[in-house]
Amino acid sequence: MDQQTPTRPDARPIPETQRRAQPRAVIAGTGGYLPEAAVSNDELSRTVDTSDAWIRERTGIGQRHIAAPHETCAFMATRAAERALAAAGMQAAEVDAILLATATPDEAFPATALRVQAALGAGGFGFDLSAACSGFIYGLATAEAMIAAGRIRTALVIGSEVYSRIMNWQDRGTCVLFGDGAGAVVLRAGQAGAGLPGILSVHLHSDGRLGDILYVDGAVGRRDKPGHLVMNGREVFRHAVTRLSETVEEALAANGLDKSAIDWLVPHQANKRIIDAIGKRLGLPAERVVTTVERHANTSAASVPLALDEAVRDGRIKPGDLVLMEALGGGLTWGSALARM
Ligand code: ACO
Repeated sequence: MDQQTPTRPDARPIPETQRRAQPRAVIAGTGGYLPEAAVSNDELSRTVDTSDAWIRERTGIGQRHIAAPHETCAFMATRAAERALAAAGMQAAEVDAILLATATPDEAFPATALRVQAALGAGGFGFDLSAACSGFIYGLATAEAMIAAGRIRTALVIGSEVYSRIMNWQDRGTCVLFGDGAGAVVLRAGQAGAGLPGILSVHLHSDGRLGDILYVDGAVGRRDKPGHLVMNGREVFRHAVTRLSETVEEALAANGLDKSAIDWLVPHQANKRIIDAIGKRLGLPAERVVTTVERHANTSAASVPLALDEAVRDGRIKPGDLVLMEALGGGLTWGSALARM
């Protein structure tokens, strides 16, 4: 995108002085949406050979929300985005870019981000990005870079997932683990400086050689084979603990911070045991780790923004707090984002 090209009719080019100052991407608002229907482990165990005790003990999951037909990826993303905009006190017309992370878009194209753009009445541009459960962190990193470079001033970063569509409901090893939902944040260009709010660092990683331990054996847009999620749970677990531990250490080192500086860990919500391992690594007491996996299960790209939104709305996360977000997902992909709220 040309620096001088307005992203919406009323957008002014960012003055040279501000560009040199490198604006910081500030989380100005958060929002979330969960489908109305929740399915408990007990309910699931009526159709799948499993039990509440097994699921809770291995994963910490107690229930998951499952989308109704009208609760599409775009529908949920739009509701989450509306709530994030309202929390930021902003209008859709002020949005320069919509970045939507999903592995379950409604269509091969147009991008679900553009369905959201139309529903919101937003201008600018938008696109989907695919990094499975790390998608929101990847979206945050991409939008942060565009804001820091002075290309845009405001972005909606959304994670929205309808994993119930890609579950093999006969496979008890996977279908008990996931849920549907959407989370969103508004990022706005703000001033950089010590103690001021904003995203302080992002770190992204992937290793395509590990693609076969967690994948979907079909494709969006293929009516004959939309695909089901296939997972080697043990291998994913092993890599998740190692890689996520590395990535939180990396974020601390890059910012010259001791782990005691972190106020909140907002981890990807895949499994309580993985979350506990990372919290322990940071020396954080359980009450400083935002955990929604019991009620949401794993909502993939939506899990971090949904958890962030919950803790911001209930007043746990306050302005000025230092929040470390991390995720790992199919690909494998993984990464972290450190933000002062
Ligand atoms: N209910 C009852 N029994 C089950 C279920 C179930 N839902 N699922 C599997 N089992 C059985 C297996 O058949 C097996 O039985 P067997 O010993 O008679 O063969 C037994 O339980 C043990 O199976 P494992 O797969 O070895 O169980 P494990 O202890 O590894 O737990 C789990 C499985 C929970 C999936 C674990 O490996 C895990 O959490 N992995 C991480 C996966 C993950 O989080 N993926 C999310 C996507 S990636 C991400 O977001 C990080």
